[in-house]
Amino acid sequence: MKLYPMRALTTGVLVLAIGMPVGVASAVAPADGMHPLRSRTLTDLDTAMRGEAYAYSSYSLFADQAAKQGLPAVKDLFRRTAKTELDEHFTEEAAMRGLVGGDADNLRAAIEGERYESLSMYPTFAKQAKQDGDSAAAELFGEIARDEAKHHAAFEKALEAVRTGKGGIPAPPSVQPVSVQAGMPKVHAARTKQNLDTAMHGEALAYAKYTHYAKAATAHGKQALARLFNGTAEIERREHFAGEAQLAGTVRSTRENLTKAITGEQYEARSMYPGFAQQAKATGDSGAAELLGEIARDEAKHARAFEVARDKLR
Ligand SMILES: [Fe+2]
Ligand SMILES: [Fe+2]
Ligand SMILES: [Fe+2]
Repeated sequence: MKLYPMRALTTGVLVLAIGMPVGVASAVAPADGMHPLRSRTLTDLDTAMRGEAYAYSSYSLFADQAAKQGLPAVKDLFRRTAKTELDEHFTEEAAMRGLVGGDADNLRAAIEGERYESLSMYPTFAKQAKQDGDSAAAELFGEIARDEAKHHAAFEKALEAVRTGKGGIPAPPSVQPVSVQAGMPKVHAARTKQNLDTAMHGEALAYAKYTHYAKAATAHGKQALARLFNGTAEIERREHFAGEAQLAGTVRSTRENLTKAITGEQYEARSMYPGFAQQAKATGDSGAAELLGEIARDEAKHARAFEVARDKLR
């Protein structure tokens, strides 16, 4: 993938994307041992997982920016917080949601997502960006559509190998990371900005899902499949998400990045998670209610830690 000189989106960390369903690999088991989760709880878990995946990927970029500005403590704070979002919040929500199934189920879910992105979402976004005069975005969306078609084909082959034992698991793609520069958006049309935001949420979610599928493959002794999932995950985050972030102007000065993170964490802590927890409790999804309530408290701590870090900046 090529690099583009780029500029910024002003949407916050927590703008939730409308797009593909999260892509649950298997039937949802009764997570609290009582009854299957209510559909509202499932939808809320999907929304939460999108937010956590997006937080992980954007905080990783904010950590890089803090390092560039010679702020190692802020870099560590963003890295540590990103890790909590992915390894705790996303992972716990994914477990409750039943995101990860058997290897074949996970591949089918991945194939469905790649098909949607390569045949529908990205071609539409490319066409719209071109109509709106955002040619760099049109070009990037077109390139990513072609990458997603390759992911789709590789996962199809892998599924065939897993199902029949015939043929091999394709080698993982090689990654050429995009180094994101802080700056303003490089796109103009409101529609392009919205599409970039949707695409970035999709890429962040794909990264989080594929790393979880890779862990499952490793646990099943399927090392080649784990490498394919991990390698593809790296493309989603370090090329696609990063390339889109560059155009969207996601990364600014560390002070601005902290402010954006605080706004997102406060929304999650005060509004989103308490609302989801209350809703889950009201419908009898008590295990989910407990988890969502715990996460709300964690997000409040993240917001405070980011505020302390911002106060310490000169
Ligand atoms: Fe979180
Ligand atoms: Fe992909
Ligand atoms: Fe992607």
